[in-house]
Amino acid sequence: MYKLNIRKGMTEEEIDVAVNQALNMMTLKEKVATMSGNNFYLLLLKDHKFGVRAYPGGGVKRLNIPPFLFTDGPKGVSIPGSTCFPVPMARGASWDILLEEKIGEIMGKEARAQGANLFGGVCINLLRHPAWGRAQETFGEDPFHIGEFGAAIIRGVQKHNVMATVKHYAANSIEYSRFKVNVQISERTLREVYLPHFKRCIEDGCATVMSAYNKVRGEYCGHNSYLLRDILKGEWGFDGFVHSDWMNGLRDTIKGISGGLDVEMPRAKYYGRKLEKAVKLGKVPLNLVDDSVRRILRTTLKFTTKEDPLKYDSDVIGCDDHVKLAREVAEKSMVLLKNQDKLLPFNMDEIDTIAVLGHLADKKNTGDHGSSHVRQKNIITPLQGIKNSVGNKVNVIHNEGNDIDIAQQIAQSVDSVVVIVGYTSKDEGEYIPHISKGLGDRTNLTLKEDDIKLIDAVTKVNKKCVVVLVGGSAIIMEEWKGKVPSILMAWYSGMEGGNALANILFGKVNPSGKLPFTIPKDQAHLPYFDIYIDEIEYGYYHGYTLMEKENIDPAFPFGFGLSYTEYSYKNIRVESTDEKIIVNVDVSNIGAIAGEEIVQLYVGFENSSVDRPIKLLRGFKRVSLNPNETKTVSIEVKKKDFAWYNPDNRVWEVENIEYAIYIGSSSKNEDLLTTQISL
Ligand code: BGC
Repeated sequence: MYKLNIRKGMTEEEIDVAVNQALNMMTLKEKVATMSGNNFYLLLLKDHKFGVRAYPGGGVKRLNIPPFLFTDGPKGVSIPGSTCFPVPMARGASWDILLEEKIGEIMGKEARAQGANLFGGVCINLLRHPAWGRAQETFGEDPFHIGEFGAAIIRGVQKHNVMATVKHYAANSIEYSRFKVNVQISERTLREVYLPHFKRCIEDGCATVMSAYNKVRGEYCGHNSYLLRDILKGEWGFDGFVHSDWMNGLRDTIKGISGGLDVEMPRAKYYGRKLEKAVKLGKVPLNLVDDSVRRILRTTLKFTTKEDPLKYDSDVIGCDDHVKLAREVAEKSMVLLKNQDKLLPFNMDEIDTIAVLGHLADKKNTGDHGSSHVRQKNIITPLQGIKNSVGNKVNVIHNEGNDIDIAQQIAQSVDSVVVIVGYTSKDEGEYIPHISKGLGDRTNLTLKEDDIKLIDAVTKVNKKCVVVLVGGSAIIMEEWKGKVPSILMAWYSGMEGGNALANILFGKVNPSGKLPFTIPKDQAHLPYFDIYIDEIEYGYYHGYTLMEKENIDPAFPFGFGLSYTEYSYKNIRVESTDEKIIVNVDVSNIGAIAGEEIVQLYVGFENSSVDRPIKLLRGFKRVSLNPNETKTVSIEVKKKDFAWYNPDNRVWEVENIEYAIYIGSSSKNEDLLTTQISL
């Protein structure tokens, strides 16, 4: 039997030749067989559990063409034993692109060691509203920031010849109604707010795209030829393949293939035999099938025939180096929101007894238990982390706080208190019908009543109290914020989260994370959100752009986060070349300890002749500074990134006006230096 000469080290030309040969040799049945996942239910029956292996699809055995093998993410490879990192929202708060690329590399290595070559762990949907159940799976509310993170993890994963999948394309930002909701959206909003991060990832070479379940402008995303054919494959020149989301991401054979969906996951329901029949009946032109097959084969071969930089033995899975990085990431992502009278860091020499209270104090809580769940047993809880850190030096008293009076008595009897409260996978996460324990989306943005009562009781008797929040996005804190001296957003911080938390509480690590979203004072300051809704309009403004436009003061602004040291900014200056502007600023550490500062650059559009946000993030950099050290931080912005999308002539336009340039430590005006530049 003839087999193609498929081998390591093939050039792109050789791959193209092989794919052409394959297309000539394949029967229609074989062609449609490559266009879906296969054996999914058989494997599930065998395993009794989802996500414990890589799921195959594509491939032509007869011709030596390997299958793609899918595994989920995004807080780690979901196959058991993998390193469990902090959730992407936490990582978004690190603003550390190099670190994200390293995380991607680890995920790539662990995916390979577990037999996977297609990684569904790049979720970059925009955080439009903090109640979204899967907020934790994305990186934040700002398209520029999310795009940088998405591109970084993709670069890392793909270095190890794993095809990354960017998901869920597009406008997927409500969980409970994700299977039906129709998102109405203007052209400008789509182009400027909901798509730029996808475009960024495609430009950086992302191999595959997962279409979303929801509809955009009346058409399911898996059938949506405007999104898939016109924009993604047409305008952006995407040459990889698009696969459906898993439960009902494809609902119609002809609509799917005409819309531009190449692969039905996880099995052939509308493709397979139905697609074969539709071609035979002349309802689907063969060239559409050939185009999809070409994309699938080319992409799979491109990745599977590339020489590997490493060997991927099973001992890389969850190895010490990876776990260590998970801790570093957790440390860099926690955000200190309040630190009155410099309560933190706690000094171990001055504390005899500390109380660790709250229902999450000793909970192994890494967030969502849906497709993003990483089955990892070695999770350090906050209590364990604190005990590891203090050893015999400090007496640790743990209480879940179920009986408020007892918790209060404990708080009264100790030197300092840490209250650990917030959410678990039951409160927010992926909604899987008949399986999920909750609705996916949050129905409330505040803490639970019992948590608030605990905070009230404790702060009445002990002023040395820090509240540690666990969750995947904004929590409204107005009811209790004023009573607590210190607040730390700790996120779902992965398998090493407890150790990272202790390192921050006791000053071994100086906190440096900054919010990748705005925390409002009131739910009324957010865009309209309804988890049961059939149709919703996604407007041009959300998050900081909405609050700035409407002049609403947030509880904590986008980009905000405190440190145990202080930084000062001086001497903003801007240079301009044909393609870009370069903004320089001198940043100094004026406090007593070393730290890392996240410098943010925003462009202001007040002189625009069209309606535009007051300002938009267009660059950021993490910089480490010793006490008394000053560094010049230089951030570049491409001139094309000043553009708006003109829906009349369908082009991106850069206005020749004067723009404001802001640089500083958060999106709040008081935290920014400003100057102007004319383009
Ligand atoms: C989720 C995807 C996931 C897929 C496979 C879907 O329900 O929306 O994010 O990759 O399942 O687990």
